[in-house]
Amino acid sequence: MKKIKVNLGKNSYDILICSDELDKLGPCLKRLNIGKDAVIVTNPGIKKLFGAKIKKALVPSGFNVRFETVPDGERAKSEKECLRLLNNISGFDTQRRVFIIALGGGVVGDLAGFTASIYKRGIPYVQVPTTLLGQVDSAIGGKTAIDLSAGKNLVGAFYQPKLVFSDTSFLKSLPEKELASGLAEVIKYGIIKSPGLFSFIEKNYAAILNRDKKCLNRIVYECSLIKAGFIEKDEMDNKNVRVMLNLGHTIGHAIEAAANYRRSYNHGQAVVLGMLSSIYIAEKIGLMTEKVSRRIKNTIKNIGLPDKLKNVSLKNILSAQSRDKKFIHGKNRFVLPAGIGRVIVKEGIPVRLVKEAIENLYESKKR
Ligand SMILES: NC(=O)c1ccc[n+]([C@@H]2O[C@H](COP(=O)([O-])OP(=O)(O)OC[C@H]3O[C@@H](n4cnc5c(N)ncnc54)[C@H](O)[C@@H]3O)[C@@H](O)[C@H]2O)c1
Ligand SMILES: [Zn+2]
Repeated sequence: MKKIKVNLGKNSYDILICSDELDKLGPCLKRLNIGKDAVIVTNPGIKKLFGAKIKKALVPSGFNVRFETVPDGERAKSEKECLRLLNNISGFDTQRRVFIIALGGGVVGDLAGFTASIYKRGIPYVQVPTTLLGQVDSAIGGKTAIDLSAGKNLVGAFYQPKLVFSDTSFLKSLPEKELASGLAEVIKYGIIKSPGLFSFIEKNYAAILNRDKKCLNRIVYECSLIKAGFIEKDEMDNKNVRVMLNLGHTIGHAIEAAANYRRSYNHGQAVVLGMLSSIYIAEKIGLMTEKVSRRIKNTIKNIGLPDKLKNVSLKNILSAQSRDKKFIHGKNRFVLPAGIGRVIVKEGIPVRLVKEAIENLYESKKR
């Protein structure tokens, strides 16, 4: 088991990375002393896969366990589910020692974390991420949120977990498309910060896709370390540091929104398309060479992530983009790669170039 400490003063916590060691969760939580009554927020599919196992990991350490299931998919990040959770938790909270365990992907993690942040002005919660995206990204950093009909993540809080417990053996049952979605964020970390991580994915993509235990453990460890570093420097995302993690996300979010979160493009797939647009812009303004961008494109292809955009119109993407919160004061702002392992933030990219970069994602000129 590997441990990374996220140093945030009184909000500090550990990220534990292991494989097939869920039985250690009970003793770890006992040491944290955050309560006795564990509300496990999850969805029916994940409960079926890991519910009995997590219960078995907690009961011998003296925890009372109660499951709260929410629907699968983004629709669970709603005010309705959040309120239902709050009411159910209050019913269970008779001894004032309740805490929340988020068992699932980013959806469960965001909803459970946000619910923990507002119940009684904040109760402890723990992230047990079961998707690769959760383990390398969403479970770390304390951004919690639910969606409104006007947009994603519009109601949220910065609220750090007490522990992130990433057991990579969860990833064995993850659908291929979800594994690839997490790998999109892994590629992103390589481009932002780590040429070594990028070369590792480039060379070992076949073993990674085969869910080789050593490869997955290494990836989750390195990405967690990178993300922890950004969080420590900029916990509240207001120091222009955490913003680097948004590589590919400006256009990626616009693609997700234009596709109406129909899951035709999941988060990672949209982010990869967004990264390809950023690479296009970076090449055009002389930040990176064709040779480097070819390496990234090949890796994206080898992982089985999309490199072309279908079924979403350019008009809808551009209109979603102009509403994005990352467009500050009507001036756009992009994180652009400057090779592998370094990114820069640039404001005021000409709209014509942004449009051209998105147009370049389509197979043919027919849209
Ligand atoms: N808080 C943050 O910093 C942050 C960062 C990135 C993304 N997010 C949020 O995360 C969400 C996306 O998260 P996600 O990609 O993990 O999607 P998700 O939570 O919807 O999970 C993807 C699918 O995989 C299933 N699943 C989960 N674990 C499984 C397992 N081990 N085996 C089989 N199936 C499993 C889920 O039931 C779901 O159907 C979005 O809502 C996004 O806004 C948050
Ligand atoms: Zn992301």
